[in-house]
Amino acid sequence: MKALITAGGRGTRLRPITHTENKHLIPIANKPMIHYAIEAVISAGICEIGVVVNPETEKEIKTALGDGRRWGAHISYILQEKPAGLAHAVQSAQDFIKKDPFVFYLGDNVIVGGIQQFVKAFHDSRSNGHFVLSRVKDPQRFGVAELKDGRIIGIKEKPRKPKTPFAVTGIYIYDEHIFEAIRVIKPSRRGELEISDANQYLIEHGFTVTYSEVTGWWKDTGQPEDLLEANRFVLDQIVESPSGPTVLGMVDAKSDLRGKVIIEKGAKIIHSQIRGPAIIGKGTIIDHSYIGPYTAVSEDCVIRNSELEYSIILERCRITDIDVRIEKSLLGREVVLYQGKIRPRTQKFITGDQSQIELS
Ligand code: TTP
Repeated sequence: MKALITAGGRGTRLRPITHTENKHLIPIANKPMIHYAIEAVISAGICEIGVVVNPETEKEIKTALGDGRRWGAHISYILQEKPAGLAHAVQSAQDFIKKDPFVFYLGDNVIVGGIQQFVKAFHDSRSNGHFVLSRVKDPQRFGVAELKDGRIIGIKEKPRKPKTPFAVTGIYIYDEHIFEAIRVIKPSRRGELEISDANQYLIEHGFTVTYSEVTGWWKDTGQPEDLLEANRFVLDQIVESPSGPTVLGMVDAKSDLRGKVIIEKGAKIIHSQIRGPAIIGKGTIIDHSYIGPYTAVSEDCVIRNSELEYSIILERCRITDIDVRIEKSLLGREVVLYQGKIRPRTQKFITGDQSQIELS
């Protein structure tokens, strides 16, 4: 069995971060998002992994992941010339997949609880396709599966009146018949070869399509608020040790750490309060500040005299003397936020394209 993980696409909904950083490398709890996909397939016993890249993402992704040796796996890169749809991504990988069954895993999906049970269910049911479904509160926003006798009998994209609460997630398992489906389908109105059309082909042409339900937690991290939620959930999985927070850096006597907190190597916590779940990256300095729950601060940042909660802060940011609590925020690399000292106290912005700023 093989795995195909996507790392192409455009990432438009995560701009401006994705102007300079590939979506799949944005950290969730200080680990690149795509690592979760790689680790999930490896723990399901799959070591032959293909990663779909496009000419824009190829270099960055290859540099970040390498050949897979560090996971004891083998990663091949599949170049998709342009982001022409998920079915097109699968088609581009036909020479890599050959006739093997494979897990098709969208690299921007984060799932907690592993995928080995889905792989087993696929084999046990001898299906041609096996999809992972998640019970959601707002099925109208998703592709929704219609079910009968343990099979998927239809999938409706964003239906106004969903027949079930089961959203189709970004984790699919296929045998070689998916390539037949992709050969037959035509580009959609937006000009892409849609995986939903290929799935519909399988269902309508008598192939067996079965499903499993996510028992843990799943998120498609297409938008900034999804990233914050994924970060919250993954941080919540930190196992609290009986001896207290994991401190690999330095915490001074005036600081107070509570709950599930990880202080990575070389980080310094000075006269500050940290309320977990939270992670502070290597070399970061937290000085006279408050870091609240569900916050991940990456490497080499400086947070001084400021308060921060439910946020993701990428490498080398500097946040100084901010007198309101920063919350629900996603800061790209090397962002500088500081309180001006001279009067008049006006607001001043130097921001990149498509930045979003909310003032209170
Ligand atoms: P999407 O989130 O559907 O698309 P996107 O990443 O281009 O983002 P946006 O809609 O914000 O512009 O993609 C889901 C996953 O599939 C993601 O891992 C990117 C990947 N992908 C490809 O590898 N090739 C493609 O042709 C497309 C459309 C997506």
